[in-house]
Formats: sequence, C-alpha cells, structure tokens
Amino acid sequence: MEKFVIRHTDSLQGTVRISGAKNAALPILAACLLTSEPCYIENVPPLTDVIYMLEMLKGFGAEVAYDKEKESICIHAKELTTLESSYEKADKMRASFLVAGPLISRYGQAKLPLPGGCQIGSRPVDLHLKGFHCMGAKSRQEHGVIDLTTKKLKGATIYLDFPSVGATENIMMAAVLAKGKTIIENAAAEPEIIDLAEFLREIGADIQGDGTDTVEITGVKELEGTTHSVIPDRIEAGTFMVGAAITGGDIVLENVREEHLKPVIAKLAECNVKIEAIPQGLHVYRKGKLQPLQLKTMPFPGFPTDMQAQFMSLMTLAKGTSMITETVFENRFIHAGELQRMGADIRIDSRNAVIEGVEELTGSKVRATDLRAGAALILSALAAKGETEIGEIHHIERGYYKIDEKLRALGADIERKEEV
Ligand code: EPZ
Repeated sequence: MEKFVIRHTDSLQGTVRISGAKNAALPILAACLLTSEPCYIENVPPLTDVIYMLEMLKGFGAEVAYDKEKESICIHAKELTTLESSYEKADKMRASFLVAGPLISRYGQAKLPLPGGCQIGSRPVDLHLKGFHCMGAKSRQEHGVIDLTTKKLKGATIYLDFPSVGATENIMMAAVLAKGKTIIENAAAEPEIIDLAEFLREIGADIQGDGTDTVEITGVKELEGTTHSVIPDRIEAGTFMVGAAITGGDIVLENVREEHLKPVIAKLAECNVKIEAIPQGLHVYRKGKLQPLQLKTMPFPGFPTDMQAQFMSLMTLAKGTSMITETVFENRFIHAGELQRMGADIRIDSRNAVIEGVEELTGSKVRATDLRAGAALILSALAAKGETEIGEIHHIERGYYKIDEKLRALGADIERKEEV
C-alpha cells in the first residue's frame, strides 16, 4: 500500500495538462461491446478504473490493445466467448454494470455481479433495471449476481425517477440495437452523456436529445467501428482549480472545456478566484481573501457532486461561515472527519455541512475514503502547516492519473512512499 507525504506549499504555479475524463471513458469502453468492428478510443489515461474495465471486456472475449504511452486503446469485440462476467473486481467498480446495456442489446443476455455500494452511498441499480424491464428484459438476482435475458429488446418510453448518469448511459446503450424507438424522460444531461452519445452516433446509432432531459434513440440493425477521443476530465480540472485557490496560486490548465466547468467557475468566482479563458485554456488565480460560500450539489448543469469534497476543503479556510448541501448521494461527507483531524471546523447535519473558516489547518495522518475525498485531503494538505500523510491512496489513483507528478510540476511538496 502506498501513501502520499505532503508538506505545506505556498502557491501552486505553472501549467498542467488535464487528462481524458474517467467518467466519459468508462461507458464508451463498455459501448465497444455493441459492435463487431474494431474501435479506437483516444485520450484515455491508464487509471485503475480503466484497467479494471478493460480486464472485464477481455473476460468476455473482446480483443484489447492499450498503448499506455499514447493513451490509446483498441477494442475489438468481434465475437464474445461468454456473456457472464467472472471478473472478481466487477462488483467493486460501479461502472462495471455499464456492460449490461450493450450485452443485452446485442446478445439478449448478460450475467453480472451486482456492483457493490461504496462509502458514498448504497448506489442501487433499480433505475437501470426499470429501463431494461420496460424494454422487455427479464432479470433474476441471486447470490449477488444479476441475470438479464430477453429475446429482443423493444423500444419504450422510460421515466427516470432521478436523472441517474449510469442509468441514462445503460439505457441509451441498450436502446441502440432494440426494435423501435426508446425515449428516456428525466434523463441525465452531463457532458459525459453527450460524449457517449457522440461515440454511439459515430458507430451508427440514431440518438437525439443527449444533453437535455429527454433522449430519443431509434434502434438500428448494425453498427461499425470508429476512432473517438474522449473529452477532458472536468472534475480533474476543477480539482486543480481549487488547488490554485487554496494555495493562493496562479496556474494555467490546458486541455479543458470551459462550458463543462460553468458551475465550478461561477462558485470559485464568488470566493475571489479569477478564471480567465486564454488561448492555451484557463488561467486560474486567487485575488484577495477566500470568501465563504453557499453550495448545493445538483445533477448537471447544477454544481457537480464530484466537486463537493474539494470545495469543502477550500471552505475550511474561507473568512466566515459556509454551507454545503449534498443532494445527490446520501453519505458523501466522510471526508469531513478527516478534515477535522487537520483542524477544520465542520458540523454535519444529515445532508447539510456547516463550515466555519479557521485561520489555518495543521498537517496530520489521514486516509482517503473515496476518490474525491482523497483529492480533497491533498488540497488541504498543500495549504496546511507542516506535514500530512494520506493513506489508502489507491482510492485517489482510480480517477487521477499521476496526480503527484502533476502537482510536483506546479511546485507542490508531495512524495509517494510505501506505507510501512
Ligand atoms: C456517476 O455515477 C459517476 N461515475 C459518479 O462519479 C458521479 O458522482 C455520479 O454519476 C453523479 O454525477 C461514473 O460516471 C463512473 P448516478 P452513477 O446513477 O452513475 C441514485 C466519481 O467520483 N441511483 O447519477 O453511479 C444513486 O444512489 C464518481 O468519479 C438510484 O437510486 O451516479 C445516487 O444517489 C463518484 N438508482 C444518485 O442516483 C439507480 O438505479 C446519483 O447516481 C441509479 C442511481
């Protein structure tokens, strides 16, 4: 097991290139199972979740080649040898369930471990299954495995009780080869949904309305291959932007899409952080004292839940009282306890966190409990006085490629060490 050792860093400075988006790449890799033609997916960093997904696809019999240097993957699901996943990590990675839609759309069958819950919530897949059932699939669950079967999926109109990202993605993929038209109402509108829809259109799918709350998919008979480059990771970008804010730094982010970051830019601007679009990308620097914020996480285009922990870190040092309301996940304040060990003043009351700004944080031994909580601890450790040790950094590596190297290039005092 490894840990990060981080010492106080005054003002991150320099340029950082943002990697391709984990949450765009994972559904697109799963969608390659829909077609018997080879697909080339570019701009995909070798994150652990990406490696897990590729292991799973290989388990079904897909040919996979990954040039990690070039961050380019070729997936050729010519014919699969099994429709059952035996990959032992499949129940650990939520996104593993995203192979369900492609498999039942192309083959009418899938047998998958139910993805486990995690620290941030129970994370059920009832909305995914609701969509599959509406389209004619039957499901049977026993011993933690879900068995999906159908003769041929039929288009249907499906209302999502919550605009679930994963359910929208899974149902979109299931509908691509179904008979007739599927309409997803109250669909998620995240940029990653649009990127998946663009990939699906490139291989021949008929999809409209992605990026709005109503997505329409008309089934087609066959699909081709394509080459697709995934969008930049808006959450990695937001995390570095908060890094500049919390250290009073001045950085330039390359390979970012400003339109994917509007809620993050708006809230940073409220607390005295300047963000300017420049030819290279985004220039981010703090101007004046950090002001407190009122923040509420919402489905896109609202403020992203995946940036909540990072903003909590920032607010622990703002001049005044901040309030964060987490509406998307039922238990996504676990990082508060670790921040309190560093001297933060945070009170949690169910979905609300009240943060009183303090003069300074002090370094301490903490541990990452999930991906974004771990990132939040890195940010606090950079601003804290003294030295911080962050354990269980495998959580962080799931979604941040070479984050220590990228931070060191910006002047951060961060080392990777073996956890003895
Ligand atoms: C995706 O997870 C992301 N993961 C998450 O990012 C992100 O936090 C989340 O969307 C919300 O934006 C990937 O894309 C791989 P949801 P997903 O379905 O699809 C409930 C990160 O840090 N729900 O939109 O699992 C669910 O319990 C990760 O990169 C149901 O009730 O999120 C949650 O409360 C963390 N039934 C809410 O909806 C369902 O069938 C949002 O979940 C599905 C979801």
